[in-house]
Amino acid sequence: MRSLRICPSILSADFSRLGEDVRAVMEAGGDFVHVDIMDGHFVPNISFGPAVMKSIRHVTNKPFDVHLMISPVDPYLDAFAEGGADIITVHAEAGPHLHRTLQAIRKLGKKAGVSLNPGTHPSAVEYVLDDIDLVLVMSVNPGFGGQSFIPSSLEKIACVRDMIGDRHIDLQVDGGVTAENAGQIAAAGANWLVAGSAVFKGGAAKYADNITAIRKTALIARGEMV
Ligand code: DX5
Ligand code: ZN
Repeated sequence: MRSLRICPSILSADFSRLGEDVRAVMEAGGDFVHVDIMDGHFVPNISFGPAVMKSIRHVTNKPFDVHLMISPVDPYLDAFAEGGADIITVHAEAGPHLHRTLQAIRKLGKKAGVSLNPGTHPSAVEYVLDDIDLVLVMSVNPGFGGQSFIPSSLEKIACVRDMIGDRHIDLQVDGGVTAENAGQIAAAGANWLVAGSAVFKGGAAKYADNITAIRKTALIARGEMV
């Protein structure tokens, strides 16, 4: 079984003190920094760009997992690689040449991920499974934090998990993940859980408890904790 990872989405951080807040959430036990990049075109919201990401890269040694919700994406891959991304995830829906985009990410020496919107069939990743390190199943429509988990995502997670088979590919879920549903999500086969509001709620004093609560229910569902 692939290792469980909790990936705080820094979209829910306090942007007025982003570096400090990212440091705090990683010190509180986050495994990967999940960076949501939105362009106001592929998704109906704008977050920030590679320069802002680069400016906070030094606050932690933990990997940066960069979720690009932008189209076209190819012209920006270099900037995010240079800005300190370790994993670059693109949307299957964002461009006509997914395979070419994935080759470009790998050529930059980064791990490559593909994300699927809630309405996208899992078959969209089928023919690139040998070219990727991560599949990201969106469990909300991308663009905003704080939305509710779409229940049909559980069936999709299980379907993608089957498609992955024995390949060395992690399965990430993003959107509406909480300590209440993390068990079902992990049981369906996801091993990287992104959480924004469920991690950042209550302020820095609560980050460690919030992360632990999500991790605990997922570990119990995986049979790794009683
Ligand atoms: C949504 C982003 C998510 C989001 C998660 O477009 O990709 O990473 O910030 O936030 P929560 O956990 O609040 O749904
Ligand atoms: Zn995301």
